[in-house]
Amino acid sequence: MSRIAVVPGSFDPVTLGHLDVIERAARIFDELHVLVVHNPGKTALLPIAQRVSLIQDAIADAKLPGRISVTSWSVGLLVDYCTDVGASVLVKGIRSQVDVAYETPMAIVNRNLAGVETVFMLPDPAHAHVSSSLVRQVASLGGDVSPYVPRAVADFLQSER
Ligand code: PNS
Repeated sequence: MSRIAVVPGSFDPVTLGHLDVIERAARIFDELHVLVVHNPGKTALLPIAQRVSLIQDAIADAKLPGRISVTSWSVGLLVDYCTDVGASVLVKGIRSQVDVAYETPMAIVNRNLAGVETVFMLPDPAHAHVSSSLVRQVASLGGDVSPYVPRAVADFLQSER
């Protein structure tokens, strides 16, 4: 039986840290669904469709291995998507204890809701300080975000100036 995992997040925009986790997960699971989810608690920079497109470009540019699809989800629970596609695992990147504290309650709730387990993955420590919110702030103030994001994202943000 093929093991399907979902990598959910806002990805606003996708960072090198996200891409690192996606690559590690792609080497473990048979099939990966990178899922862009609207987070109502955050003020968005990019439309959802743009985030999907940039992740697709980044994955293609990096020539990541395995079966990876990129899509979005806006109706209902995250675990409903998992059930729909036959995924039993969620993958979350963990940079620090702050992320563990943020992710743990969601992992327990997702397990209780639908038996979906969460796997925490550690990105390369080189990306430990990188977050989408930092990228949004630096980009909005005219700074160079190229050390933190895939080339496709840096080019897009540059073109938007
Ligand atoms: O990148 P983010 O913003 O930290 O991602 C958070 C996200 C989108 C994964 C989280 O908000 C989420 O799981 N939303 C789906 C709504 C849901 O199913 N909530 C109930 C279980 S936690």
